[in-house]
Amino acid sequence: MPSQVVYVKDKHTKLFIPGPTEVKKEIIEAMNEWMFGHRSSTMTDLFTTITEDTKKFLGTDHHVIILSASGTAFMESSVMDCVDKNVLCSTCGSFSNRMADIAERLGKNVDRLDYEWGTAVKPEDVREALEKKEYDAFTCVMNETSTGIRNPLEEIGEVMKDFPDTMFLVDAISALGGDYIDIDAHGIDVIYTSVQKAFAMPPGLAVCVVNEEAYQRSKNASSGSFYAGLAKNIDYYKKKGQTPSTPAISLMIAYRAQMKRMLEEGHKARSQRHLDMAEYTRGWAKKHFDMFPEEGYWSQTVSTIANTRDLKIEELRQEVNKKYDMLFSNGYGKQLKEKTFRIGHMGEHTLESVKALTDAIEDVAGM
Ligand SMILES: Cc1ncc(COP(=O)(O)O)c(C=O)c1O
Repeated sequence: MPSQVVYVKDKHTKLFIPGPTEVKKEIIEAMNEWMFGHRSSTMTDLFTTITEDTKKFLGTDHHVIILSASGTAFMESSVMDCVDKNVLCSTCGSFSNRMADIAERLGKNVDRLDYEWGTAVKPEDVREALEKKEYDAFTCVMNETSTGIRNPLEEIGEVMKDFPDTMFLVDAISALGGDYIDIDAHGIDVIYTSVQKAFAMPPGLAVCVVNEEAYQRSKNASSGSFYAGLAKNIDYYKKKGQTPSTPAISLMIAYRAQMKRMLEEGHKARSQRHLDMAEYTRGWAKKHFDMFPEEGYWSQTVSTIANTRDLKIEELRQEVNKKYDMLFSNGYGKQLKEKTFRIGHMGEHTLESVKALTDAIEDVAGM
């Protein structure tokens, strides 16, 4: 069922949903440029700038791919390129389940390391499962947007180092850029995101970081993705500084401007701003409601709050939208709708903007 919330043209509804998130006006306006050919030197300059700036921002020496697609493209291609037969998928909510579904659809042998919604993937369970059977890859979501869980990726990465033939494939779609991770230090082979989340861009681009082992695996794969293929995109970049097929040029122009802003702020400072917002939201949630996910694993970019007051969340959401032009999210799917609600505090948000939302909720709910 689509949401009941009505968007009014030209009205700025401030988005506290976990993506798409707020985009600066100047970034939207940056797209207002004449087109140029995707095989021109102007394109090479644009594409190499955004690719190298992204490496700088993320602090990685690995390969970076920027693709005109949403992040799901890399969920698919990372499995296509890195998994021959067996893959272990940790599942702890809707998006990690999607990963396992994709792998099944691609005809891979999928084992699920399954957790109840709201609980986190545990490194010792990953070790136990990997000791029992050989897998080409293990998949994990960094931030399960449906439940508000931040998985202990760094600790899981330390386990993965003991299984060098098993690729560590990470969906960081609702975390990267808003939750610091040292990509090169934790045994991560592939990690990807979508720009409409903590990168605070209009949707339409996905970013993937690929280490040398995953690049080689992709290069030697007997079959793999063409459009979002890892080695395919990396090789084209190495050779030409461009993309194999026509990219979303306007979005890339906006990306160049936004990445400059992100570089000015810095990865760690950006992460700290997100942590400040998360801590404030958790405090507010505990005062008035309760946090839904397992303690110790609370997301830094989206807080999932248990509806302990039995409020009518959809009505509250609509009323806050109508009165304050702010939009937060209901709980995810059949399991969590009305039982929880979610505040996305990522991208451009600040403590002040998040406080304005919680004030608005208090006012409308009469708290
Ligand atoms: C954790 C996670 N994975 C995957 C996706 C899908 O991303 P996209 O819609 O950019 O393909 C989302 C979107 O919300 C997400 O939060």
